Amino acid sequence: MIPMQSTAGKTRQVPEGYLAFFPSPLPPHPEIALDEEGILALTNAEFHLGKLAQMAKSIPNPDLFAGMYVRREAILSSEIENILCTLDEVLEYEAEADINHGQNKSVEKVVKYVRAFNAGLERLGQTSRIDSTLLKDLHGILLQGEDEGNPGIFRPKQNWIGRVGSSAAEADFVPPPEQEMVQALGNLEYFINEHQSPMVPLVRCALAHAQFETIHPFTDGNGRIGRLFIALLLCQMKKLEQPLLYISLYLLQNRREYYDRLTEVRAKGDWLGWVKFFLLGIELTAKEATAVSERLVVLQSGTNKLIEGQRSGHELLPLLYEYPIIDARGVKRHLDVTLDTAIAWLQKFEELGIVREITGQKRGRVYRFDRYIDTLDDGWSARKAAIERNRKGTAAEAANP
Ligand SMILES: Nc1ncnc2c1ncn2[C@@H]1O[C@H](COP(=O)(O)OP(=O)(O)OP(=O)(O)O)[C@@H](O)[C@H]1O
Ligand SMILES: [Mg+2]
Repeated sequence: MIPMQSTAGKTRQVPEGYLAFFPSPLPPHPEIALDEEGILALTNAEFHLGKLAQMAKSIPNPDLFAGMYVRREAILSSEIENILCTLDEVLEYEAEADINHGQNKSVEKVVKYVRAFNAGLERLGQTSRIDSTLLKDLHGILLQGEDEGNPGIFRPKQNWIGRVGSSAAEADFVPPPEQEMVQALGNLEYFINEHQSPMVPLVRCALAHAQFETIHPFTDGNGRIGRLFIALLLCQMKKLEQPLLYISLYLLQNRREYYDRLTEVRAKGDWLGWVKFFLLGIELTAKEATAVSERLVVLQSGTNKLIEGQRSGHELLPLLYEYPIIDARGVKRHLDVTLDTAIAWLQKFEELGIVREITGQKRGRVYRFDRYIDTLDDGWSARKAAIERNRKGTAAEAANP
């Protein structure tokens, strides 16, 4: 790592001989002053966040959709770390419908991300405090069963960011040693929970994520927990009643710039550059979430019409919004009905054109709520392009190491 000194902290040689980065506590001194461009970015971000909040109010039952946004964020955030899987794979796994025969190991990781995320949201329903204990608990869920990543505890030794196989001396970035790491986390906790400052919440959130990535307190999962941290902070700020805004699509699409901006914070104290980049992400993500929500409202009213005249089975629809890939056993379990009733309802919904059977088998039939999943997936066309770019990028890197 090259020597650095900025308002974000400075490098120092550690007894082992290499340089490590010692972060300064937040907020940066002097405090960040938004320039004209920054004020515009903040105004736009707040405006589109407000529109999203307004839109969410017009959805009859927005809680129903929140689970899909969570899964979506989990997939995209994992994708930034090259853990790749599709929404269908996650839904099939959750439905215990192993249509892909466990071929994609990334699915389990994403499902654990979803669990960690939901656990975080649940905890925020009880307390608004986001602290080290919470982050460790969520890490324990995220990396459950992956012992080499030290699930649920902070890293017991030094880590670093760099090319695979590089030593600490050759690394691009070496976070603080353990003792300073604990201290820096304490400062970060203070900054987000206690620190009284006129700083607007979105800026505070941007700073907190950058600081978390600089501290890099876990053996593995720092990227994913760091982005979960953003999502929880946004909820804590109560900008939205439902957690519908997630930023990973933007970070994925702009991964190079994301990393460069974090590096510029450490090396040059360019907090403003990072904050503006982050605010633009909030604006774009809010716009996109609003568009998805609008499509969901249309879908919801169309689907309601389809079942209006039906005498039974109305309970199935809300369940499908939560679990849009499901089999009769799942319906039985969730709705506490007999298997025969579950089968009859699913068949009825199939006749109405709401769900489609996807296994083509006589037994163990699994149903998919096509229009709903595709409405959510549709907004990911950019993501699909990003996957392609990443694949090409990875191939180019491999060819050109
Ligand atoms: N070269 C870089 N410059 C700046 N920041 C980086 C760089 N590489 C990674 N980061 C930050 O650290 C995060 C991931 O760090 P790292 O590669 O150490 O992964 P990790 O701890 O294994 O996390 P995960 O398991 O979630 O991938 C990235 O998402 C980004 O926020
Ligand atoms: Mg990792």
